Amino acid sequence: MKKSYAHEAMARSYLKLLKNTLTNTHYKKIDDSPLSERELRQSAEAVAKVRAKFGPLAEAGNLEVKGTLELFTPEVGAGWFRRNTWESHTLLESTGLANVEYCLRNILTRQVPGDLIECGVWRGGTCIYMRGLLKALGDSQRTVWVADSFQGLPDPDPSVSPLDAISHEFLKVIGAFSVSLEAVQANFKAYDLLDNQVRFLPGWFSDTLAQAPIEQLSLIRLDADYYDSTVQALDALYSKLSPGGYIIIDDYGIPTLGARRAVDEFRARHDIQQPLVGVDQSVVFWEKA
Ligand SMILES: C[S@@+](CC[C@H](N)C(=O)[O-])C[C@H]1O[C@@H](n2cnc3c(N)ncnc32)[C@H](O)[C@@H]1O
Repeated sequence: MKKSYAHEAMARSYLKLLKNTLTNTHYKKIDDSPLSERELRQSAEAVAKVRAKFGPLAEAGNLEVKGTLELFTPEVGAGWFRRNTWESHTLLESTGLANVEYCLRNILTRQVPGDLIECGVWRGGTCIYMRGLLKALGDSQRTVWVADSFQGLPDPDPSVSPLDAISHEFLKVIGAFSVSLEAVQANFKAYDLLDNQVRFLPGWFSDTLAQAPIEQLSLIRLDADYYDSTVQALDALYSKLSPGGYIIIDDYGIPTLGARRAVDEFRARHDIQQPLVGVDQSVVFWEKA
């Protein structure tokens, strides 16, 4: 009893330190100072290019394009650009990582079978946190699957998702979240968490996910921003999620991305009734019945 209490206390301290390091908030506070003129100018240039490219569609009566263009002000774009220059290993804030921890602790307590996967990993930080959680909580069986193109976001088809096509013009300016496989593996190594409980699925989801040698999942985390990418991940993986397991959708609350429509359509098509639980302005999750 005494030993397990001491272990839990140590695990909590380790996880707190890991979370603060991954989010780069151990020594620094996230920069919420007013946007500078330089930041706004950089964004205004991107806004102008996007308007030049998509404006004619809006003028021709495409209301979705028109509405999306209105959302993209220089302030919004500059906020995205600033977030990307933050030197963290994950784009999540501590609430997002706490949500992963909540799900995994429940999975382990209730012995829900299956591995963990994140689709869309950027620098790998959230998967590193998943591996750290397994270690701290004493699970030596489950695998963390790390799925990404490792060459950034795909170029969306504007006729499928104009939202994504417009967002992509901004995201291209900051490299469309491109991080190489080697860089992500080096990040795992830096935390001493690169081992045989971590497996990588490099490539486009349409080529990798359905064929992946994954038998069962207890936690799926989707953070792929776009409509098509989210559809592909849901179609390939949801049937492998164990009852009692969790699915987290990172970008559900972001009005300029297509992930939400993909999730709404998928839930309607499969008559999924479990309520969506909000984590913060962007992230939602549900438990599979
Ligand atoms: C916003 S980032 C992920 C952030 C990450 N989860 C974190 O914790 O910081 C989106 C990622 O999705 C990946 N991605 C999006 N669509 C993809 C697809 N169809 N196939 C492979 N990777 C994709 C991109 O390469 C990028 O790394």
